Amino acid sequence: MTNIILLGPPGAGKGTQARRLVEERGLVQLSTGDMLREAKDSGTEMGKIVADVMARGDLVTDEIVIGLIEEKLATAKANGFIFDGFPRTLAQADALASLLKRSGNQLDAVIEMRVDDEALVDRISGRFTCGKCGEVYHDKTKPVKVDGTCDECGSNDLRHRADDNAESLKQRLMEYYKKTSPLIGYYYAMGDLFTVDGLQEIEDVAKSIANVLDQATAS
Ligand code: AP5
Repeated sequence: MTNIILLGPPGAGKGTQARRLVEERGLVQLSTGDMLREAKDSGTEMGKIVADVMARGDLVTDEIVIGLIEEKLATAKANGFIFDGFPRTLAQADALASLLKRSGNQLDAVIEMRVDDEALVDRISGRFTCGKCGEVYHDKTKPVKVDGTCDECGSNDLRHRADDNAESLKQRLMEYYKKTSPLIGYYYAMGDLFTVDGLQEIEDVAKSIANVLDQATAS
């Protein structure tokens, strides 16, 4: 069982790399952002509660996101998990440690994807995703091959996210620096932290992550 966390600011490339790891290593991606967007789109009670919070760029309560992860860990069958966008607070990190311990599992690596703020603004402003299969694109760095059509599944449902605007990005970054970046020190102290240069091209970031995983799972 291999369990890894992808840690980084909005737009660092966590989702892009998580999708590759799913294909290449057969791990299951647990993205709390995707789970919350699903709840929002399907109009559940929880979706209604989180919609405004997400649009503003604030963090959803620990209670809600820990509950989502707990449910997935209890039901999903997997060789391991990629935690994408979770944990984001120290309380979430403690909860994850307890959940993994309870099921006799452990974390293999926390991969910090380091990208500077200027690049994040470019990445977020050019991002669009497929509403059907979730593939992530970018106007300049990862365009679709045929205009308006997803390369992966052929859908024409290509969308920009509601929180991908300058105002909520500013708030998402503030939340990251205030509440999530302390996790870098937390995991460093636990001996689980690896840092990769997220400013490299997508392929090279993937190679750096592969090297980290080989190193982490060999020890
Ligand atoms: P979430 O969906 O997790 O958003 P995020 O963390 O802000 O991360 P993003 O999805 O924006 O970016 P990413 O790092 O995945 O980058 P991507 O691969 O798409 O969360 C959304 C909201 O949900 C939060 O604001 C909060 O409200 C709530 N939430 C979620 N989890 C929560 C939690 N645990 N606790 C509380 N609240 C929570 O890449 C971005 C773009 O860059 C793409 O266009 C891509 O093609 C491009 N790109 C990727 N890599 C590269 C590269 N190497 N070079 C050039 N371009 C690249």
